[in-house]
Amino acid sequence: MSDILRLDAVSLAYGRLTAVDKVSLSVPKGARHALIGPNGAGKSSLFSVVAGIRPPTSGRIEFDGADVTEVSEAGRAAGGLVRTYQHSSLFLGCTVLDNVRLAAERVHGRPLRPFRRRRRDAEVTERAHAHLASAGLPGRHGHLAGSLSHGERRQLEVAMVLACEPSLVLFDEPTAGMSAAETDRFAELVERLPEELSMVIVEHDLDVVFRLARQVTVLAAGSVIASGTPDEVRADEHVQRAYLGADSTDELFTEAS
Ligand SMILES: Nc1ncnc2c1ncn2[C@@H]1O[C@H](COP(=O)(O)OP(=O)(O)OP(=O)(O)O)[C@@H](O)[C@H]1O
Ligand SMILES: [Mg+2]
Repeated sequence: MSDILRLDAVSLAYGRLTAVDKVSLSVPKGARHALIGPNGAGKSSLFSVVAGIRPPTSGRIEFDGADVTEVSEAGRAAGGLVRTYQHSSLFLGCTVLDNVRLAAERVHGRPLRPFRRRRRDAEVTERAHAHLASAGLPGRHGHLAGSLSHGERRQLEVAMVLACEPSLVLFDEPTAGMSAAETDRFAELVERLPEELSMVIVEHDLDVVFRLARQVTVLAAGSVIASGTPDEVRADEHVQRAYLGADSTDELFTEAS
């Protein structure tokens, strides 16, 4: 199977700090890939580089067989590479439906001719309803985004991502701040997304990682220190050492349920 994403020695420096240090990584199409590592390991920075928000200091990024190292964030998103943010980025004063419609329009633009625009608007709206249903929010379309619970807001972000018609989604800590029940609902929702949609998920909750991911890459101090199946990664002594002192240490040593 071909790779949806290939990173070749990608680095990112903020001034003198090297946040991402020669990371090479291959993500096959349809992957459920988790990226884990202690706070400050460089996970969000790597996502910024992959999504085109920051240019890498060095290295090469290939998306779906094409070199996108020089392609803008908008260009990558239009091509199907979409990221979510660690901190929510909704229009709280707009309705749930409008948030999804705006996400679609941001990526795919609006046609200029009025007739075509009306037809397109109707299609976008219809698809937005379908994405809200996929994200577990049917019936919430008329509510203001600001009136949703924390868990529902993150579900809305999933609908917004789906509206971009992605082939690869980078989720940055999607369950952060969720209750156990919200986390469970979110994991279920991700499990139900189409199999052909490739995902890389940064996640601190290792129960979620071991439930959703078939491959795990571990980042520490900007470098990949381990990569493999959840079982291989859990048994890796470098990983155990990197997590010593981190909140999730105990969880790493328990068996996935
Ligand atoms: N905009 C920035 N300017 C300067 N340094 C930054 C910037 N963003 C992140 N850093 C630094 O880069 C390193 C990697 O940060 P990053 O946010 O990528 O880590 P992370 O793995 O996502 O951590 P967390 O698990 O806490 O989200 C850290 O040392 C951080 O302080
Ligand atoms: Mg982060």
